[in-house]
Amino acid sequence: MKRHLQLTADGSHTIQIDELNVTYHSKHGAIQESRHVFIDAGISYLHQVQQINEYQILEMGFGTGLNALLTAIFSDQMNVYVNYHSIEAFPLTAEEIGMLNYGTLLQQISVFSQIHAAPWNTGTPIHPKFELYKHHCTLNSFNHLEQFNIIYYDAFAPTAQPELWTVEIFEKLYHLLKPEGILVTYCSKGVVRRAMEAAGFRITKLQGPPGKREMVRAFRDH
Ligand SMILES: C[S@@+](CC[C@H](N)C(=O)[O-])C[C@H]1O[C@@H](n2cnc3c(N)ncnc32)[C@H](O)[C@@H]1O
Repeated sequence: MKRHLQLTADGSHTIQIDELNVTYHSKHGAIQESRHVFIDAGISYLHQVQQINEYQILEMGFGTGLNALLTAIFSDQMNVYVNYHSIEAFPLTAEEIGMLNYGTLLQQISVFSQIHAAPWNTGTPIHPKFELYKHHCTLNSFNHLEQFNIIYYDAFAPTAQPELWTVEIFEKLYHLLKPEGILVTYCSKGVVRRAMEAAGFRITKLQGPPGKREMVRAFRDH
């Protein structure tokens, strides 16, 4: 499928796939959306509540590496250790990665290149507080023995990939979370919330990033 670069409203790039009619981030601002949904409502929220100094994070959809970069920045600034696992079935090419402006905009050119230079299917320390493990596989084939504190659920929208928003998928994700763990996602469609609830999650709707009314934080209570 053909992918091309797009500029979003906050000046940061995203990638668009015409055939699926999807972008990797909101057109209203890629960095703005990632910060709002995954950093502020995800790790920053959980850190305020739990105050632990080590987090295991699972991201579905590594994509451009923007969520990984923002989390690496957070872990460094907040002095918390993050073991970050990310799943990606269709990695971007070196040429596509080279066009993205996140490293420059966030003044993290070196960390952004290290994130992309890290080999697939093995753990790589990116800085003393951030270890990255990029899994080159589909979500369906992903298996992991340890559980996570947070899941960043960043699959393409249900209109493009309905098979990634089913009760079965959320049951799998529920079991990948530790008790008291959270899943955050930009999607708050009723059908998705009901699938999450059927899988055992407790749902809270939060204000979405600019351009989106709501987002979801889902809890595994026990
Ligand atoms: C919304 S984008 C992720 C954006 C990404 N988190 C970022 O910061 O750039 C969704 C990603 O999921 C990947 N993907 C699609 N289907 C998948 C599947 N079945 N298993 C794993 N990854 C998949 C796509 O290739 C794409 O990179």
